[in-house]
Amino acid sequence: MEQKTIVITGASDGVGAAAARELAGRGAQVVLVGRSPQKTTALAEELGAPHHLADFASLAQVRRLAAELDAAYPRIDVLANNAGGIMGSKRKVTEDGNELTFQVNHLAGFLLTTLLMDKLIASRACVIQTSSVAARLAGRVELDNLQLEHGYSAQSAYGASKLENILFTRELHRRFHDQGISAAAFHPGVVGTNFALDTDSPMRFFYAAGFLRRLFTITPDRGADQLVWLADGTPGTTWQSGGYYEKRKPGHTAAQADDAETARRLWDASARLVGPA
Ligand SMILES: NC(=O)c1ccc[n+]([C@@H]2O[C@H](COP(=O)([O-])OP(=O)(O)OC[C@H]3O[C@@H](n4cnc5c(N)ncnc54)[C@H](OP(=O)(O)O)[C@@H]3O)[C@@H](O)[C@H]2O)c1
Repeated sequence: MEQKTIVITGASDGVGAAAARELAGRGAQVVLVGRSPQKTTALAEELGAPHHLADFASLAQVRRLAAELDAAYPRIDVLANNAGGIMGSKRKVTEDGNELTFQVNHLAGFLLTTLLMDKLIASRACVIQTSSVAARLAGRVELDNLQLEHGYSAQSAYGASKLENILFTRELHRRFHDQGISAAAFHPGVVGTNFALDTDSPMRFFYAAGFLRRLFTITPDRGADQLVWLADGTPGTTWQSGGYYEKRKPGHTAAQADDAETARRLWDASARLVGPA
């Protein structure tokens, strides 16, 4: 089989870095996308892999990243939209005017994917979203409140963004599967990473090194298994396009994830917010 080119965002740490190590070890050409120059270059040197930098709090940086990826790689077989996290208890707005969680976790991946769409179609690519069980536990997408101007909390913003990852997956499948795109979203498990550590979210106590982390979290290698399984698998055979997965099986998520009208309207609203491709 030909070597796959696999682009992973959020590859500088945690689940993304563990997946990058495993997939590079299996012989894929892994392309690392990170925010921190130090962490990203260190992993690139370790793996002998190319790397790119972008802060998803800036859509200009996402546009520049898409142009770099488009110019550097003749094909992209897998795009893993994995970068993200939970933000602080105070609502923040990016330079683009979007609520920070919504932009970093959903809009940036949406923009990157749509900017690369011609190449992804030509490559018959898989587009994978790192979602979360939080989509079911705390997710509610209100199309008239995407920016969480009303009722913001770190948890509600995070849950909504992770549900948006699944709605985006469903709509990508609906719009582009017949052109060769396959899409999937997944929950990696509760993984002992840097998740929440630089925020004031109460969730940081679970992730900080110590008793709770040992008791309640799995290792990044185990968390990455789901991403690796999708990236290295065969859509239509090992997994089905449009699906949401946990532990290598279709997972149970929020009822709203099956609302096709919300998925369609979220796509249209996201396209309006990022402007012309
Ligand atoms: N850990 C869990 O229990 C868990 C559970 C469910 C879902 N998830 C999801 O898994 C994904 C990976 O998280 P993780 O647990 O591996 O956490 P992590 O160790 O904190 O890694 C997060 C990754 O995302 C990147 N990132 C964060 N903010 C960014 C921004 N503004 N622009 C560009 N990149 C940014 C980070 O880049 P730098 O390090 O270079 O700054 C890092 O590579 C996230 O989407 C998260 O929501 C995690």
